[in-house]
Amino acid sequence: MARTVLITGASGGIGAAVAWAAADHGYRVLTAGRDATRIDQVCAGIPRSSPVLLDLRNPTDVLESLAEVDRLEAIVHCAGVAEAASVEETPYSRWLETLTINVAAAAEITRALLPALRKAVGHVVFVSAAPGLHAVPRWSAYTASKAGLRELADALREEEARHGLRVTTIYQGGTATELLQKVRAKFGRPYHAADCIQPATLASVVLTVLDMRDDAYLPEVSVLPTPRP
Ligand SMILES: NC(=O)c1ccc[n+]([C@@H]2O[C@H](COP(=O)([O-])OP(=O)(O)OC[C@H]3O[C@@H](n4cnc5c(N)ncnc54)[C@H](OP(=O)(O)O)[C@@H]3O)[C@@H](O)[C@H]2O)c1
Repeated sequence: MARTVLITGASGGIGAAVAWAAADHGYRVLTAGRDATRIDQVCAGIPRSSPVLLDLRNPTDVLESLAEVDRLEAIVHCAGVAEAASVEETPYSRWLETLTINVAAAAEITRALLPALRKAVGHVVFVSAAPGLHAVPRWSAYTASKAGLRELADALREEEARHGLRVTTIYQGGTATELLQKVRAKFGRPYHAADCIQPATLASVVLTVLDMRDDAYLPEVSVLPTPRP
């Protein structure tokens, strides 16, 4: 029986790369996204993949789409928003949206799928960010959400140890996607895709995490672009 992985943000740069890598490793891939057309386009090329419509702004409204998942080897939480703005410029609605999509929805999706994950003695991977470890001026809602994601992962890891679940947080640096390009533009910093981590490289790290021999696992992984002299 093929192992199944659910990937959120599968229409994004990192999520799509993880979906491809997972299929290459023999997984059946549930590619989750909020836009039916985009997610169908991603699925079209990936063997053994099925689309799942999830708009994470309202995570409790989407649980029905997951009701039929009764066994799940892994979830990879890749969905995220990363608006760069100061506290002064960030309205309450933006805080709520960022914290909902980046943290609370990840908790809610995981909660809904815990029975299926426990059945498979599965693995939950949170794609966080290097800034989740420290403050960044003009990026407080994002960094707060990534710091919250770290706390969610750390608590889940301890709670689910008795069921054998593994929980991994990935702290990666700049990865060549549209999101990074927009963020760099907002901060007035240059963006050269070739100097960044490539999504396929990050995806290979995620698959290494998922496919490790089962006597050990990686609770946290930092991934940084190689410095270019
Ligand atoms: N790229 C980097 O340098 C970098 C560095 C550190 C951490 N990260 C993290 O890596 C993750 C993936 O980022 P990326 O670079 O691949 O960005 P991306 O290409 O912009 O992908 C983001 C994904 O999140 C999805 N998403 C956004 N809002 C959503 C919502 N309301 N409901 C469902 N899905 C939603 C997007 O869906 P749509 O396609 O429908 O918009 C897209 O699939 C994010 O959590 C990001 O914080 C990225």
